[in-house]
Amino acid sequence: MGTEGMDEASNMKVVLKHYITGSAQETDMLLTAGTMKLKAPKDSNAVVLKNLFLSCDPDMIFKMTGHKREHCDPYTLGSPLTGYGVGKVLDSANPDFAVDDLVWGITGWEEYSLISDTKYLMKIQRTDVPLSYYTGILGMPGMTAYVGFYEHCTPKKGDYVFVSGACGAVGQLLGQFAKLHGCHVVGCAGNPDTVDLLKKKFGFDDAFNYRQEPDYDATLKKYCSEGIDVYFDIVGGKMLDAVLLNLRPHGRVVMCGMISQYHLEHPDGILNLPSMVTKEAQIQGYLSVNYYHLYPKFLEIILPLIKESKVAYVEDVADGLETAPKVLVGIINGLNIGKKVVAVDHH
Ligand SMILES: NC(=O)c1ccc[n+]([C@@H]2O[C@H](COP(=O)([O-])OP(=O)(O)OC[C@H]3O[C@@H](n4cnc5c(N)ncnc54)[C@H](OP(=O)(O)O)[C@@H]3O)[C@@H](O)[C@H]2O)c1
Repeated sequence: MGTEGMDEASNMKVVLKHYITGSAQETDMLLTAGTMKLKAPKDSNAVVLKNLFLSCDPDMIFKMTGHKREHCDPYTLGSPLTGYGVGKVLDSANPDFAVDDLVWGITGWEEYSLISDTKYLMKIQRTDVPLSYYTGILGMPGMTAYVGFYEHCTPKKGDYVFVSGACGAVGQLLGQFAKLHGCHVVGCAGNPDTVDLLKKKFGFDDAFNYRQEPDYDATLKKYCSEGIDVYFDIVGGKMLDAVLLNLRPHGRVVMCGMISQYHLEHPDGILNLPSMVTKEAQIQGYLSVNYYHLYPKFLEIILPLIKESKVAYVEDVADGLETAPKVLVGIINGLNIGKKVVAVDHH
């Protein structure tokens, strides 16, 4: 709906009802109706956004548990969830943003948001690609794959690379960077369709369905029979533990995330650390937000790769804010094919 000249609009929001214990459910969230002033208060430095796309990201599940962690405060009950998204500036009291600018960054799970802290908003300069890509391959997950691979994996041509959670936003790109670099790449994902995509669309050398494998150590010995030089870890837990037994000498483990652990009160322990000693291996974590100075360089690399179809990208865009709770919990129960995004339908 057009908002020109309007001072106020109805504003549907997705709020958290209670902190979760165990796996997140659709019913942990609630859709509520409210109203929103479409003017940024004078001298506030704030902008008013019309949200266009909202990104479903794994750290949102962690924020639903109510547990505290550095860089990750729990959600406030009754307030709209927050996360990455793409929006259009409807009003601005901030000299860095003008009306009609398109931006990506942290916003609210609602139709319109007042963003007081604009430090996590980036202006979108290139619009000859789908805008939803700025929630994924051209946004935070894309940067996470780029920084993870080029700054931390120390890849060499011919390296044996294993990626878990490989069909998500970060994993699909990481695997393709590794292929472009001349590595041998194996991935795992949670259903037959995503396993197929890894091999046929993203060019992985091999892939398996971790949900059908009772013994990860035996599975890795089968699919990564030469051992693993680089493990890009998206899931943590038992898969990480099994990988440690399958590292090659001087192997590298890059800790990107632990999606299998976020909802657990007592995360799985890691038993096989002695392998790190005998393999003289390295383990390294990182936070992509600390590398945003590399974003322009990343865009210079990734945009031509997209244009020339040298990297593929699969996203699954759901229609309407009312679908958001279901879509968000889909990222941890194997229902997603590629990057999950919600298109906000303005009533
Ligand atoms: N370090 C950083 O700066 C940084 C920044 C952004 C994201 N991250 C982390 O990066 C990881 C990937 O993020 P993303 O944006 O790619 O997320 P995504 O698009 O939601 O993909 C995550 C993938 O993990 C798989 N998965 C879900 N639950 C799992 C489980 N219990 N065991 C194994 N696999 C499971 C999912 O599908 P299937 O189960 O169907 O395979 C999905 O494909 C997350 O751990 C996230 O927290 C880190």
